[in-house]
Amino acid sequence: MNSNSPIRLDDKLPGNTAANRQWGGRFTAGPSAIMQEINASIGFDRKLWRQDINGSLAHAAMLAHCGIITAADEHAIRDGLAAIAAEIEAGAFPFESALEDIHMNIESRLTERIGEAGKRLHTARSRNDQVATDFRLWVRDAIDGLDAQLADTMKALAGRAAAHAADPMPGFTHLQAAQPVTLGHHMLAYVEMLARDRGRLADARRRLNECPLGAAALAGTSFPIDREATASALGFDRPAANSIDAVSDRDFALEFLSTAAISAMHLSRFAEEIVIWCSAPWRFIRLSDAFTTGSSIMPQKRNPDAAELVRAFTGRINGALVALLTVMKGLPLAYAKDMQEDKEPVFDAAEAWALALAAIAGQVRDMQPDTARMKELAGSGFATATDLADWLVRALALPFREAHHITGRLVAAAEVAGCTLAELPLATMQSVEPRITSDVFSVLSVEASVASRRSYGGTAPERVAEQAARLLAQL
Ligand code: ARG
Repeated sequence: MNSNSPIRLDDKLPGNTAANRQWGGRFTAGPSAIMQEINASIGFDRKLWRQDINGSLAHAAMLAHCGIITAADEHAIRDGLAAIAAEIEAGAFPFESALEDIHMNIESRLTERIGEAGKRLHTARSRNDQVATDFRLWVRDAIDGLDAQLADTMKALAGRAAAHAADPMPGFTHLQAAQPVTLGHHMLAYVEMLARDRGRLADARRRLNECPLGAAALAGTSFPIDREATASALGFDRPAANSIDAVSDRDFALEFLSTAAISAMHLSRFAEEIVIWCSAPWRFIRLSDAFTTGSSIMPQKRNPDAAELVRAFTGRINGALVALLTVMKGLPLAYAKDMQEDKEPVFDAAEAWALALAAIAGQVRDMQPDTARMKELAGSGFATATDLADWLVRALALPFREAHHITGRLVAAAEVAGCTLAELPLATMQSVEPRITSDVFSVLSVEASVASRRSYGGTAPERVAEQAARLLAQL
């Protein structure tokens, strides 16, 4: 191997002269170093160790219950697996890449420890149903953890929303000042997004929660197993109904990743707003030292790196989704080794998503909004122009389209005069539309504007306070 190669196979793995201890019966020699390197998944699938042990415990208990192995063997297996769990937890487990994956590492170690009984564990089971079960269990645990994090992030946002239900800020479309909204209302928009992410996770979990164990390699087994027993012992709703599908389906991982991608997209939008909001020309919020970094050259800098990284994590997470969709596309039934490539994208995306949620929840709690500045800017850019047009409709019974036109001329007049709409003299307004009265000024302030938007789901402080209270009660 070229010494510039990123992996140095000849140093790392001498190549095995002996056949694999788990399946080497008909093999006379071991795999080449390259074969071992490309084949082994232990470097990443060791993450599944807990699920693998739990799956094996359920399987062994079922085998004993069905009279397929003896109670004594099951006992020995249980003790052996408990000892292995302790060993892994203590960092003392001798992981071997010659044993390919977590399943064979644990099974081989079990046999080393308990002898004969360990060799009976794999009765009526294949690594195909084993890995499908382990991976489902892992994704299910990840879903539960991420669901709790989503709820926590929503709580942080809704709490802030309740506190800022009446604080105006500019509302944007096209990133141009559109209409004043309240900061609380803006934050609750994200709470709604994250609530839907939780809904998607719950849906994914419901469909995921079927147990592949007992599908064996692909066709089921000739042993009189009890699939209901293993399914319920592992907290699944039922056994998967088709053994071929059970070992070859990775929809559950794809649904997890697509939910991750959508949620990461949501988080990236908020992250982008954090970046904008704390930049110098805006100064809507200030982040403390806890969520910023300094520059090595520009002493004045306070960079929102955490928000920028959350914004960037979408790349990694979308990549994971596309990677697994691509691995699965066109794969004939049932299992193929391609499917070993299902794990790293899921592990990586889950980790990035969890970190992104933690960083967003942390920044929501950390940020100090400059409510005075937000309010000041809420009135800039003629943001109450729609209120003026609405007033013309209400007070003068003008059709909205006409009111819109007149308001446009008033905005142009204010632009020429270099003032806000509220500062435009009544006489100037009347030169555009003589029927305008001084009552118009009652709708031109930022407070009046937000207070008037009382429609359900609108930005009026009372509506925002209601929604925040509803969401906080739910959480
Ligand atoms: N490490 C493998 C994977 O993750 C386990 C299943 C192997 N099955 C097989 N028939 N080679 O997919």
